[in-house]
Amino acid sequence: MGSEFDRDSVARAYARWAPVYDLVFGAVFDRGRRAAIVAAERIGGRILEVGVGTGISLPLYAHGNRLVGVDISSAMLRKAQERVVALGLHNVEALAVMDAARLALPDAAFDVVVAQYVITAVPDPEATLDEFARVLRPGGEIVLVNHIGAESGPRALFERCFAPLARRLGWRPEFRFGRLSGWAARHGGVRLLERRPMPPLGHFSLIRFERLA
Ligand SMILES: C[S@@+](CC[C@H](N)C(=O)[O-])C[C@H]1O[C@@H](n2cnc3c(N)ncnc32)[C@H](O)[C@@H]1O
Repeated sequence: MGSEFDRDSVARAYARWAPVYDLVFGAVFDRGRRAAIVAAERIGGRILEVGVGTGISLPLYAHGNRLVGVDISSAMLRKAQERVVALGLHNVEALAVMDAARLALPDAAFDVVVAQYVITAVPDPEATLDEFARVLRPGGEIVLVNHIGAESGPRALFERCFAPLARRLGWRPEFRFGRLSGWAARHGGVRLLERRPMPPLGHFSLIRFERLA
Protein backbone atom coordinates (compact mmCIF):
# COMPACT_ATOMS: atom_id res chain seq x y z
CA MET A 1 0.00 0.00 0.00
CA GLY A 2 1.50 3.33 -1.04
CA SER A 3 1.84 6.04 1.58
CA GLU A 4 -0.58 8.18 -0.48
CA PHE A 5 -3.44 5.94 0.77
CA ASP A 6 -2.89 5.90 4.48
CA ARG A 7 -5.33 6.90 7.19
CA ASP A 8 -4.02 10.45 7.59
CA SER A 9 -4.14 11.29 3.90
CA VAL A 10 -7.73 9.98 3.70
CA ALA A 11 -8.64 12.15 6.70
CA ARG A 12 -6.98 15.17 5.02
CA ALA A 13 -8.82 14.47 1.76
CA TYR A 14 -12.17 14.41 3.57
CA ALA A 15 -11.37 17.55 5.53
CA ARG A 16 -11.24 19.24 2.09
CA TRP A 17 -14.48 17.58 0.96
CA ALA A 18 -16.48 18.33 4.13
CA PRO A 19 -17.77 21.84 3.20
CA VAL A 20 -19.11 20.71 -0.20
CA TYR A 21 -19.66 16.98 0.31
CA ASP A 22 -23.47 17.01 0.49
CA LEU A 23 -23.75 19.24 -2.56
CA VAL A 24 -21.48 17.05 -4.69
CA PHE A 25 -22.35 13.55 -3.39
CA GLY A 26 -25.79 14.02 -1.83
CA ALA A 27 -28.08 13.22 -4.76
CA VAL A 28 -25.76 10.97 -6.78
CA PHE A 29 -25.41 8.42 -3.96
CA ASP A 30 -28.96 8.77 -2.63
CA ARG A 31 -30.52 5.60 -4.13
CA GLY A 32 -27.73 3.42 -2.75
CA ARG A 33 -27.99 4.98 0.70
CA ARG A 34 -31.76 4.43 0.83
CA ALA A 35 -31.41 0.81 -0.32
CA ALA A 36 -28.77 0.18 2.37
CA ILE A 37 -31.06 1.63 5.03
CA VAL A 38 -34.02 -0.50 3.89
CA ALA A 39 -31.73 -3.56 4.18
CA ALA A 40 -30.45 -2.47 7.61
CA GLU A 41 -33.94 -1.83 8.93
CA ARG A 42 -35.08 -5.35 8.02
CA ILE A 43 -32.91 -6.32 11.00
CA GLY A 44 -33.20 -3.02 12.91
CA GLY A 45 -32.18 -2.34 16.50
CA ARG A 46 -28.76 -0.88 17.26
CA ILE A 47 -27.04 0.18 14.04
CA LEU A 48 -23.41 1.25 13.60
CA GLU A 49 -22.73 3.50 10.59
CA VAL A 50 -19.05 3.42 9.77
CA GLY A 51 -17.78 6.33 7.66
CA VAL A 52 -20.94 8.22 8.57
CA GLY A 53 -19.36 11.37 7.10
CA THR A 54 -21.63 14.43 7.24
CA GLY A 55 -24.43 12.24 8.62
CA ILE A 56 -26.39 12.61 5.41
CA SER A 57 -28.12 9.25 5.91
CA LEU A 58 -28.97 9.65 9.60
CA PRO A 59 -32.39 11.33 9.08
CA LEU A 60 -33.41 8.50 6.72
CA TYR A 61 -33.52 5.85 9.47
CA ALA A 62 -36.78 5.14 11.30
CA HIS A 63 -36.62 6.69 14.76
CA GLY A 64 -37.04 3.32 16.48
CA ASN A 65 -33.46 2.38 15.53
CA ARG A 66 -30.58 3.46 17.76
CA LEU A 67 -27.67 4.80 15.75
CA VAL A 68 -23.94 5.17 16.40
CA GLY A 69 -21.82 6.90 13.75
CA VAL A 70 -18.03 6.83 13.44
CA ASP A 71 -15.65 8.44 10.97
CA ILE A 72 -11.93 9.12 10.61
CA SER A 73 -12.56 12.75 9.62
CA SER A 74 -13.41 15.17 12.43
CA ALA A 75 -14.38 17.78 9.79
CA MET A 76 -17.01 15.44 8.31
CA LEU A 77 -18.25 14.47 11.79
CA ARG A 78 -18.70 18.12 12.79
CA LYS A 79 -21.20 18.42 9.93
CA ALA A 80 -22.93 15.26 11.17
CA GLN A 81 -23.14 16.68 14.69
CA GLU A 82 -24.68 19.92 13.35
CA ARG A 83 -27.26 17.87 11.44
CA VAL A 84 -28.17 15.79 14.52
CA VAL A 85 -28.77 18.96 16.55
CA ALA A 86 -30.60 20.84 13.77
CA LEU A 87 -32.96 17.93 13.07
CA GLY A 88 -33.32 16.77 16.69
CA LEU A 89 -32.25 13.20 15.87
CA HIS A 90 -32.67 11.77 19.37
CA ASN A 91 -32.09 8.21 18.14
CA VAL A 92 -28.41 9.03 17.45
CA GLU A 93 -26.66 7.66 20.55
CA ALA A 94 -23.15 8.81 19.67
CA LEU A 95 -20.86 10.16 16.95
CA ALA A 96 -17.14 9.55 17.38
CA VAL A 97 -13.86 9.94 15.52
CA MET A 98 -12.66 6.37 15.02
CA ASP A 99 -10.66 4.31 12.56
CA ALA A 100 -12.87 1.68 10.91
CA ALA A 101 -10.04 -0.84 11.18
CA ARG A 102 -9.70 -0.30 14.97
CA LEU A 103 -13.17 0.18 16.36
CA ALA A 104 -13.08 1.11 20.04
CA LEU A 105 -16.37 -0.76 20.52
CA PRO A 106 -17.20 -4.03 22.31
CA ASP A 107 -17.76 -7.39 20.61
CA ALA A 108 -21.30 -8.25 19.46
CA ALA A 109 -22.63 -4.81 20.41
CA PHE A 110 -24.63 -4.10 17.21
CA ASP A 111 -27.43 -5.67 15.19
CA VAL A 112 -26.26 -4.13 11.91
CA VAL A 113 -23.09 -2.46 10.62
CA VAL A 114 -23.68 -0.15 7.64
CA ALA A 115 -20.85 1.30 5.54
CA GLN A 116 -21.91 3.42 2.58
CA TYR A 117 -19.19 4.34 0.07
CA VAL A 118 -16.47 3.56 2.62
CA ILE A 119 -14.93 0.09 2.20
CA THR A 120 -12.82 1.11 -0.82
CA ALA A 121 -11.63 4.27 0.98
CA VAL A 122 -9.97 2.45 3.90
CA PRO A 123 -6.30 1.39 3.75
CA ASP A 124 -6.99 -2.22 4.83
CA PRO A 125 -10.49 -3.37 3.73
CA GLU A 126 -10.07 -6.93 5.07
CA ALA A 127 -9.00 -5.81 8.57
CA THR A 128 -11.87 -3.33 8.50
CA LEU A 129 -14.38 -6.07 7.63
CA ASP A 130 -12.94 -8.20 10.46
CA GLU A 131 -13.82 -5.36 12.81
CA PHE A 132 -17.34 -5.06 11.39
CA ALA A 133 -17.87 -8.80 12.01
CA ARG A 134 -16.42 -8.55 15.53
CA VAL A 135 -18.83 -5.85 16.71
CA LEU A 136 -21.89 -7.66 15.24
CA ARG A 137 -24.06 -10.05 17.21
CA PRO A 138 -24.67 -13.49 15.67
CA GLY A 139 -27.46 -13.19 13.12
CA GLY A 140 -26.62 -9.52 12.56
CA GLU A 141 -25.71 -8.12 9.15
CA ILE A 142 -23.03 -6.07 7.47
CA VAL A 143 -24.57 -3.85 4.78
CA LEU A 144 -22.20 -2.23 2.31
CA VAL A 145 -22.95 -0.02 -0.63
CA ASN A 146 -20.02 0.86 -2.82
CA HIS A 147 -18.52 1.35 -6.23
CA ILE A 148 -17.12 -2.00 -7.39
CA GLY A 149 -14.47 -2.10 -10.11
CA ALA A 150 -15.24 -3.82 -13.43
CA GLU A 151 -13.66 -7.26 -13.96
CA SER A 152 -12.65 -6.53 -17.58
CA GLY A 153 -13.32 -4.33 -20.63
CA PRO A 154 -13.05 -0.56 -21.16
CA ARG A 155 -14.39 0.35 -17.72
CA ALA A 156 -11.74 -1.82 -16.03
CA LEU A 157 -9.03 -0.12 -18.13
CA PHE A 158 -10.37 3.34 -17.31
CA GLU A 159 -10.52 2.50 -13.59
CA ARG A 160 -6.91 1.29 -13.58
CA CYS A 161 -5.73 4.48 -15.35
CA PHE A 162 -7.79 6.72 -13.06
CA ALA A 163 -6.58 4.95 -9.89
CA PRO A 164 -3.48 7.11 -9.13
CA LEU A 165 -5.48 10.37 -9.33
CA ALA A 166 -8.42 8.85 -7.44
CA ARG A 167 -6.17 7.82 -4.54
CA ARG A 168 -5.38 11.50 -3.96
CA LEU A 169 -9.14 12.07 -3.58
CA GLY A 170 -9.41 9.15 -1.12
CA TRP A 171 -10.94 6.67 -3.62
CA ARG A 172 -9.93 3.29 -5.06
CA PRO A 173 -11.95 2.81 -8.31
CA GLU A 174 -10.30 -0.46 -9.39
CA PHE A 175 -11.42 -2.34 -6.23
CA ARG A 176 -12.88 -5.73 -7.26
CA PHE A 177 -15.74 -7.71 -5.70
CA GLY A 178 -13.39 -10.69 -5.28
CA ARG A 179 -11.72 -8.93 -2.34
CA LEU A 180 -15.03 -8.90 -0.46
CA SER A 181 -16.15 -12.43 -1.37
CA GLY A 182 -12.60 -13.69 -0.69
CA TRP A 183 -12.64 -12.06 2.75
CA ALA A 184 -15.97 -13.76 3.60
CA ALA A 185 -14.72 -17.16 2.46
CA ARG A 186 -11.55 -16.85 4.59
CA HIS A 187 -13.21 -15.35 7.68
CA GLY A 188 -15.35 -18.41 8.43
CA GLY A 189 -17.78 -16.54 10.68
CA VAL A 190 -19.73 -14.71 7.98
CA ARG A 191 -21.82 -15.62 4.96
CA LEU A 192 -22.32 -13.57 1.80
CA LEU A 193 -26.09 -13.02 1.47
CA GLU A 194 -26.45 -10.73 -1.53
CA ARG A 195 -24.81 -8.57 -4.17
CA ARG A 196 -27.25 -6.24 -5.96
CA PRO A 197 -26.37 -3.68 -8.68
CA MET A 198 -27.08 -0.06 -7.77
CA PRO A 199 -27.22 3.22 -9.65
CA PRO A 200 -25.51 5.27 -10.93
CA LEU A 201 -25.09 3.04 -14.00
CA GLY A 202 -25.05 -0.22 -12.03
CA HIS A 203 -21.36 0.42 -11.29
CA PHE A 204 -22.20 0.34 -7.59
CA SER A 205 -23.38 -2.63 -5.52
CA LEU A 206 -25.30 -3.28 -2.37
CA ILE A 207 -23.61 -6.17 -0.55
CA ARG A 208 -24.85 -7.98 2.57
CA PHE A 209 -23.09 -10.44 4.88
CA GLU A 210 -24.62 -12.34 7.80
CA ARG A 211 -22.67 -12.86 11.04
CA LEU A 212 -22.88 -16.58 11.80
CA ALA A 213 -23.34 -17.92 15.31
C1 LIG B 1 -17.34 8.71 0.35
S1 LIG B 1 -17.52 9.19 2.02
C2 LIG B 1 -19.09 8.44 2.43
C3 LIG B 1 -19.82 9.21 3.49
C4 LIG B 1 -21.25 8.72 3.76
N1 LIG B 1 -21.24 7.35 4.25
C5 LIG B 1 -22.16 8.84 2.56
O1 LIG B 1 -22.99 7.97 2.35
O2 LIG B 1 -22.05 9.82 1.83
C6 LIG B 1 -16.36 8.12 2.86
C7 LIG B 1 -16.31 8.39 4.35
O3 LIG B 1 -15.50 7.39 4.96
C8 LIG B 1 -14.65 8.01 5.92
N2 LIG B 1 -13.47 7.16 6.13
C9 LIG B 1 -12.45 6.92 5.27
N3 LIG B 1 -11.53 6.13 5.83
C10 LIG B 1 -11.99 5.83 7.07
C11 LIG B 1 -11.47 5.05 8.15
N4 LIG B 1 -10.30 4.40 8.07
N5 LIG B 1 -12.20 4.96 9.28
C12 LIG B 1 -13.39 5.61 9.40
N6 LIG B 1 -13.92 6.38 8.42
C13 LIG B 1 -13.23 6.49 7.28
C14 LIG B 1 -14.33 9.35 5.28
O4 LIG B 1 -13.84 10.29 6.22
C15 LIG B 1 -15.68 9.74 4.69
O5 LIG B 1 -16.48 10.44 5.60
